[in-house]
Parts: sequence; structure tokens; C-alpha cells
Amino acid sequence: MIKKGIILAGGNGTRMSPLTKAVNKQLLPIYDKPLIYYPLSVLMLSGIKDILIIVNKGQLNQFKKILPNGNNLGIKITYAEQSHPRGLPDAFVIGKKFIGNNNVALILGDNFFYGQSLTKKLKNCVMLNRGAKVILHPVNNTSSYGIATINKKNKIIKIVEKPKKTSSNLAVTGLYFFDKNVVKYSESLKPSRRKEIEIVDLLNKYKRRNKLSAEFLGRGGAWLDTGSIKDFYDTSAFVSALEKRQGLKIACLEEIAIKNKWINKKNIVEAIKFYGKCDYSLYLLKLLKQK
Ligand code: DAU
Repeated sequence: MIKKGIILAGGNGTRMSPLTKAVNKQLLPIYDKPLIYYPLSVLMLSGIKDILIIVNKGQLNQFKKILPNGNNLGIKITYAEQSHPRGLPDAFVIGKKFIGNNNVALILGDNFFYGQSLTKKLKNCVMLNRGAKVILHPVNNTSSYGIATINKKNKIIKIVEKPKKTSSNLAVTGLYFFDKNVVKYSESLKPSRRKEIEIVDLLNKYKRRNKLSAEFLGRGGAWLDTGSIKDFYDTSAFVSALEKRQGLKIACLEEIAIKNKWINKKNIVEAIKFYGKCDYSLYLLKLLKQK
């Protein structure tokens, strides 16, 4: 069972400069809320309450203004800094103390998930006891992602980072579930040619031991990119269209927390005061009246 989660929210955001010169990419808006709300909502939907957010050195205060310590959401948020983007498995080296002897989930701060039965799938993933699990989803642009090849039994037989050529269209999404060996394995990784320790090398350690499994979002699920400025606008348009049509918000953290019974009405009232007069507060007000 996984009770701890890490959000890796550092990186230089170079592809989005000048937007990211003063503000971390994960704090920029996807439609009506900061990007980091979306990966945080995924961990919360999984039932994970103990969360470490890893940010760039010098950017801690930016994050704490919007997500102080998690009390307001009935969860526990702690922070750690990354001195420079050393690679995704660095999350487990930095998070060694936080992880201790536990299993852990990792979500990349720039990943967006949405879809029918998402919560059910997430709850299934956090049941992991041993090994590692990844979530696969088809993409068009295979050269931008880690790509997995599977056999007829849905078993991963190969994973390659950003292949120039591949016969598979299944990307490894930025949501991973690991057993407690992840710290030991991450510490033993050597930097690649691009001078980063690679998530694919970490996953291959599990695969070699026959301990890597896959879950699928399915065609009804959306896994969207927020890598470039164009991706930001496209993902924002997706959220805007759905929220407008349904009158329901995607990744409203307080809504998830109250549904999980982690907070009560009083916390929602406090949240409204915190956000001030805005669309998000009006939505929270609607929630108050419903209950
Ligand atoms: O989004 C899924 C993809 O994420 C996977 O398919 C790939 O296998 C995986 O390598 C990764 O690819 P990216 O090219 O998207 O990784 P990127 O370096 O852009 O980092 C993703 C996020 O993690 C981004 O928000 C910045 C943050 N990050 C990244 C690194 C390398 C950190 O906070 N620290 C880091 O050291």
C-alpha cells in the first residue's frame, strides 16, 4: 500500500521562457488554477495524504504562498529543494528521509490526467506492495517521451527514452508507483550522456528483476502535455471547455478533500476567505450550499 507521494516540481522551464524567468512553471495557470493543483489532485484522489513537493532552489516561498503545509486540505505537505535538474530519479535521492522504509508514488509537476474511472485506477495502483508500476497512454509524438513496448499479455518488454524510431505508441506517463527499493536503486544510477540520471534506467532495474507492471488510462482518459507554451494553451482550453459544459471543476483541491472527509465546511469557509472574490471561491460557495 502506498501512503506517500512526491511531486517533482523543479526544472528550469527553459522552453517556456520568458514566462518562467520569475515564476516556476508549475505555478503558471492551466485555465483557472496553477498547474501544480492538477498533479496534487491526482495524489489526493489516490488517497495519498503525506506529500513531498520538490522545488528549485530559491523558489520555496512562491510555492508556500499557495500551498503552505497542507493543513487547509487535511493533508501534510513538506518541501525540499533541488539544486539543479539532475534527473527524475533524483526525487528519490532528495526524498530519502521522507520515504524511509515505505513505498512511494511520484508524479511530475507538469503532468495532467483526467478521465472516467481515474480514481478507481489510481486506488488500484496504490495497492502496490512490491515492484514498480507505470501508467501507459498512446501518443502521436513518440520521440518526446519514454516509450514502452508491451507483449500480448500487456507485459512491458522494452522501455526507451525519447526514441527516434519505435513501433510502439505507448508513452510512459509521469506518474509512477514504486516499492521501497527505489531509493537504493536511484542512488546507484549513473548519469547518462545528457548528464542526468534517467527514469528509464530506474524502471529497467525493476524490469530486469521481473518487477515492472503497467496500468492503462484507456481511450477515455486524457493525459495532456504542459511542456511548451502551446501545450499550456491547449490544456487550458480542454479544462475550460469541460468546466464550462459541466459546471464542475477539475482539480478543485478543497472539493476532493471534503469528499475524502479530510476537511469540513469550516475549512471551505476559510478557503473562500483565502482565495478572495473569484470564480474559484464561487465554486466553493456552491459546494457549501450543496452539502
Ligand atoms: O511527462 C512524461 C515524460 O516525463 C516521460 O515520458 C519521460 O520518460 C520522462 O523522462 C519525462 O520526460 P520530459 O522530457 O517531459 O522530462 P522533463 O525533463 O521535461 O521533466 C519533467 C518535469 O519534471 C518538469 O516539470 C521539470 C521537472 N524536473 C525535471 C528534472 C529532470 C525536475 O523538477 N527536476 C529534474 O531534475
